[in-house]
Amino acid sequence: MLCCVARTARLHKAVAVEGRFAVSVLSAEQKATARHFADRSRPHGWAQFATVSWVPGLHTGAPLITGALAWLECEVTEEVVAGDHSVFVGRVLEAASGSGDAALLFHRGTLRGLPDGATADAPDGRVGTA
Ligand SMILES: Cc1cc2nc3c(=O)[nH]c(=O)nc-3n(C[C@H](O)[C@H](O)[C@H](O)COP(=O)(O)O)c2cc1C
Repeated sequence: MLCCVARTARLHKAVAVEGRFAVSVLSAEQKATARHFADRSRPHGWAQFATVSWVPGLHTGAPLITGALAWLECEVTEEVVAGDHSVFVGRVLEAASGSGDAALLFHRGTLRGLPDGATADAPDGRVGTA
């Protein structure tokens, strides 16, 4: 698992210092949660999680967002500096999936839901299932 974090982001220091991170794969119903964590004016530290339902990961203690489609807990094995971001490579300690179907995507500047079983057009004109 890897995540690319801006070197100026608060999250960067947290991951670099702690050496572990968790990922919550948000569902189409969690647009407000995605907007909250993308908002630079949100509260700092643990206070940013006060308005969100979460549980601590068993391996990392990092917050796992309730209602997400899936969760991953990771320990950092490598940090690769790439321009103004760091690529944190993580060994997966635990992976779990929830009951939801519709994924949350950011496409053409908008958060959108991708329904389960949605079709996608391939560049060469073929049509397959996503
Ligand atoms: C759809 C979307 C995707 C994003 N992806 C990343 C990303 O991959 N890495 C990153 O560092 N910030 C990403 N951001 C920006 C962060 O959500 C956030 O605005 C920024 O890191 C906040 O920095 P802070 O933690 O210092 O407040 C993304 C924002 C949006 C809306």
